[in-house]
Amino acid sequence: MKTIYLDNAATSFPKPEGVARAMVRYVNEVGAPLNRSVYGSAREAELVTLSLREKLKTFFCFPEKATHVILTPGNTYALNFILKGYLRPGDHVIVSSMEHNAVMRPLLQLKGVSFDRVMADETGQLDPEAIRPLIRPNTRLILMAHGSNVSGAVQDGAAIGRIAGERGIPFVLDAAQTAGHFPVDFQGFGLSGLCVPGHKGLLGPAGIGAMLVTDDLAKQLTPPIAGGTGSASDSEELPNFLPDRFESGTMNLPGIFGWEAAMDCIMNRGIDALRAHEKALTARFIAGVLDIPRVRLCGPTDMARRVGVISLDFLNRDNAAVAFQLEQDYGILIRCGLHCAPSAHKTLGTFPRGTVRFSLGFANTEADVDAALAAVRALS
Ligand SMILES: Cc1ncc(COP(=O)(O)O)c(C=O)c1O
Repeated sequence: MKTIYLDNAATSFPKPEGVARAMVRYVNEVGAPLNRSVYGSAREAELVTLSLREKLKTFFCFPEKATHVILTPGNTYALNFILKGYLRPGDHVIVSSMEHNAVMRPLLQLKGVSFDRVMADETGQLDPEAIRPLIRPNTRLILMAHGSNVSGAVQDGAAIGRIAGERGIPFVLDAAQTAGHFPVDFQGFGLSGLCVPGHKGLLGPAGIGAMLVTDDLAKQLTPPIAGGTGSASDSEELPNFLPDRFESGTMNLPGIFGWEAAMDCIMNRGIDALRAHEKALTARFIAGVLDIPRVRLCGPTDMARRVGVISLDFLNRDNAAVAFQLEQDYGILIRCGLHCAPSAHKTLGTFPRGTVRFSLGFANTEADVDAALAAVRALS
């Protein structure tokens, strides 16, 4: 049976042509470290890494230098670097009720740091104005998921950024579900920090991500990891300059080469074309699902404010059994359960049973959507 991959919110598949080739080329032909040596292949590793930073800088309208695009082992690490590197006992943080555990778990580890959640509605959308009454004198950070990995709802980054800016509070965005799917504008949103994974909508490999930080925020971050950087080696202290201050140890160079190649594909297509393709498929999916009885769509129907992450609740079936049948009988690969976001499910009214989540990507087609709809109808 042919399989249809609809689990792009977990990780994107397939990867564009050229990603695996770049990774294999690094392993077989380049094989040099970063920042340590000066021979030809080591210079090539430097140049590809710089090119990746430059591409991320351009793609996200990042106004700082490419040095402030810090490569991490993934989005979860980037979020941890910011939360644990910036917050101190006594600080207060505002998050949304739609956060992933990549935000909530590190936040709960921070002793003496308090937080409030802005409540989203039953589709996962929040009103930015609801942030204002939560701001306290000790609020030092607003950190939110741009797009929900459960309902697909996308928050209004520019409106949240305006409120944060008026009050002088740094605003950090978790763009795990929007980077590569929906425009993310660092400057336009008034961000202080942006965390992205390489392996989701940006179509790179797993094991690499980035945090883009303003100089002001970077100066207030304590690096959570320290080690060799290949620079300032006369000192046992971490260097003060970026990106080295946050990039200790040997970097994931196969990941860097793969992600750099993926960014070529992303930038050649352009975010508008990627978005238009996924928006059309999402609209087709949602129009079809609204016609199917005994299935609840747990997310917004307004295409302007959502991505192609579509959660369904089968009202007279066990969602896990449906997920199993989707693969066994229809070859449709999706994710079922709570998607590492319990508070999002409480908001949507799907805790603890979870949802059956279909998530679209650049390689999906109308035929994939139609096959998924036919299976949903049959299983409902
Ligand atoms: C909204 C959101 N934030 C953070 C993460 C964590 O990303 P990663 O697992 O790539 O580190 C995810 C992953 O699904 C996510 O959906």
